[in-house]
Amino acid sequence: MTPFISPEGPGFAELVRQALSSTERGYDLLAPKFDGSPFRTPDNVLDATAEALRRTGPYETGLDLCCGTGAGVDRVLRRVCGGTVTGVDFSGGMLAEARRAVPDAEWVRADVRALPAREAFDLAVSFGAFGHFLPRERPVLFAQVHAALRPGGLFAFPVAAPPRVGSLPYWTLWGFDAAMRVRNALWHPRFVMYYRRFRLPEVRSDLVAAGFTVATLPLESLGRRPDGAPRCRLVLARRGD
Ligand SMILES: C[S@@+](CC[C@H](N)C(=O)[O-])C[C@H]1O[C@@H](n2cnc3c(N)ncnc32)[C@H](O)[C@@H]1O
Repeated sequence: MTPFISPEGPGFAELVRQALSSTERGYDLLAPKFDGSPFRTPDNVLDATAEALRRTGPYETGLDLCCGTGAGVDRVLRRVCGGTVTGVDFSGGMLAEARRAVPDAEWVRADVRALPAREAFDLAVSFGAFGHFLPRERPVLFAQVHAALRPGGLFAFPVAAPPRVGSLPYWTLWGFDAAMRVRNALWHPRFVMYYRRFRLPEVRSDLVAAGFTVATLPLESLGRRPDGAPRCRLVLARRGD
């Protein structure tokens, strides 16, 4: 049994079908079983983020980028925002699940590399989706988020510490990314998902280049590694006035 399979989640054949589709179509196929899969952001990460944002708020309007089935809207934005909360995703299938789960939020189908919003949000968040963007796409993505935020608005997202070089998780992620490269060299449409291409130092300089002031906050409730480093940090990127 692979670590990606659980009784409530998609079976092996479904995962293969998803992996041979485009990113968007792949998520349409996965949507009905997505919440039972390990690809949904775990509640403890969402709760730690909400707790940290409660201390940096208050916020009125909130946006969840690549919202999937709505976990971040439900467990984070609805807890920390006093006004309208919106999820944006390009998969119609994922949005249908999100709409069913949280009918009182706004759900928008769009590619986050071309957001249909300007100076509309006080807070933008995103969970578990940055592996879908190649490093060269980050400047466009971050510029779109910057433009969608009001002056002074905050873009926040958790980043896990990279696994120790040579450890089992290190080789698992390395193997996944290598398989993805081979798959994308041989098969179209591409399914873009790379675990090891979203590194904090590069991400921080891309955020600064887009006009954000960047700080990070350890999410202490998620623990520390044996070397003392936090297992997960919350990136807080603020748009200047
Ligand atoms: C791994 S899921 C994460 C979902 C949710 N944020 C969570 O943590 O449970 C990634 C999501 O990103 C969406 N996505 C990927 N690339 C996108 C893009 N360019 N524009 C909008 N959505 C995108 C996918 O459709 C999918 O719903």
